[in-house]
Amino acid sequence: MSRKRVAVFISGRGSNMAALIEAAKDKSYPAEIVLVVSNRPDAGGLLVARAAGIATEAVDHTNFGKDRAGFEHAVQATLERHRIDLVCLAGFMRLLTADFVKKWQWRILNIHPALLPAFKGLDTHKRALEAGAKRHGATVHFVVPEMDSGPIIAQGAVAVHPGDSEEALAARVLKTEHRIYPLALKLVAESRVRVVDGRCLIDGVPVPDTESLVADPT
Ligand code: GAR
Repeated sequence: MSRKRVAVFISGRGSNMAALIEAAKDKSYPAEIVLVVSNRPDAGGLLVARAAGIATEAVDHTNFGKDRAGFEHAVQATLERHRIDLVCLAGFMRLLTADFVKKWQWRILNIHPALLPAFKGLDTHKRALEAGAKRHGATVHFVVPEMDSGPIIAQGAVAVHPGDSEEALAARVLKTEHRIYPLALKLVAESRVRVVDGRCLIDGVPVPDTESLVADPT
């Protein structure tokens, strides 16, 4: 089976992008990262992608003012030029319109630094600490028009340690992100994930409930 052609969207340092690039170096991995798109021309991840020999495109959203459709039109044209099959959002800090998301339905993934549906939005680690959460983690999900709400493909949980700083917790979660994103993309690229009634089935089996996840003890 031919490998799926993947575009990774970033806005910053791109460590999740780098994890996907690393996984896809293995020729038996079912996807190849052929394009990295950033809405910020100064995103550090663009340099990492170029160093890895991957095509990059900066589509600066500030050039489009309030014209979200215009921005997405430019992005879509880039994706078509590169014959992209799947899109992975990896620290991409722009909301996409329902039109764009629907065009890519079940072909666009996002990683979020929390155990969704808990802590949607920004500052997830700070809010988890403030809430006294004992467990935290990361989620890969399909993107739907509503933010951080699509069907969950994979999650990874970590323990919150007593006295954790936001930075320490973020670093622990990030390690989990780098583990679960390549895994989730692999499952999708192998066409093993189906969405039924708003929930992902993997090889026909529902993804486990968040409550049943066991936190990595480290
Ligand atoms: C990651 O922690 C990712 O989960 C988060 O931004 C970080 C990007 O880091 N994404 C979101 O908060 C999306 N709402 P990276 O650029 O090193 O991958």
